[in-house]
Amino acid sequence: MPRDWKGGTASTFKTIGASNHCDHARADHDYYATEPAATQWLMRIEQFHGPILEPSCGEGHMARELEKGGYEVVSRDIVDRGYGEVADFLTPDNTRWDGDIITNPPYAFAQEFLEKAMSIIPEGHKVAMFLKLTFLEGKRRAAMFNKYPPRRVWVSHSRLKCAINGDFANMGGSVTAYAWFVWEKGFHGAPEIHWFN
Ligand SMILES: C[S@@+](CC[C@H](N)C(=O)[O-])C[C@H]1O[C@@H](n2cnc3c(N)ncnc32)[C@H](O)[C@@H]1O
Repeated sequence: MPRDWKGGTASTFKTIGASNHCDHARADHDYYATEPAATQWLMRIEQFHGPILEPSCGEGHMARELEKGGYEVVSRDIVDRGYGEVADFLTPDNTRWDGDIITNPPYAFAQEFLEKAMSIIPEGHKVAMFLKLTFLEGKRRAAMFNKYPPRRVWVSHSRLKCAINGDFANMGGSVTAYAWFVWEKGFHGAPEIHWFN
């Protein structure tokens, strides 16, 4: 049975109708919407090819910007937030995507998302993830970074925002440093580091 990022089941969400979750439950699903400027910047600093999969789209804050940028985008999320299809990205049934993948994943499962994304795209395609800069550290990720070194890490000079439940209006300034991590399947060299905004 497919699992959600907290170890529950995707079918549970489908059965109970996840769009009716209260705000507290939605926050529990690690829903932080990404400020649109982050995706606008990504399109200035990186090129993408083929249809783009946004596998944890939330309410579409990234997907909408990608579409505005002229990309063909398929959007999915394990929770029905009124945007895209409902699907568990980590299910073993999810075996192939013939394009690039761009997302801000649930942070607790960012490594699993990266490993899954790299396993389902063809050689030469890209995975771009908007992640806390601290994703670079930690013993648990050492083997993953050896196997999949990012091609480029784009560190944000300024503090971009990720709003809980998409509520940008009621959030203060961001205290978190973020970066765009970009992988190219088949790359095994030393990552480059750059800065933007
Ligand atoms: C940090 S939010 C990012 C939302 C959106 N990508 C954005 O940047 O605005 C992570 C999203 O991942 C979704 N999610 C969690 N586990 C998932 C899974 N196994 N498959 C697909 N989506 C998942 C959550 O429901 C949540 O909407």
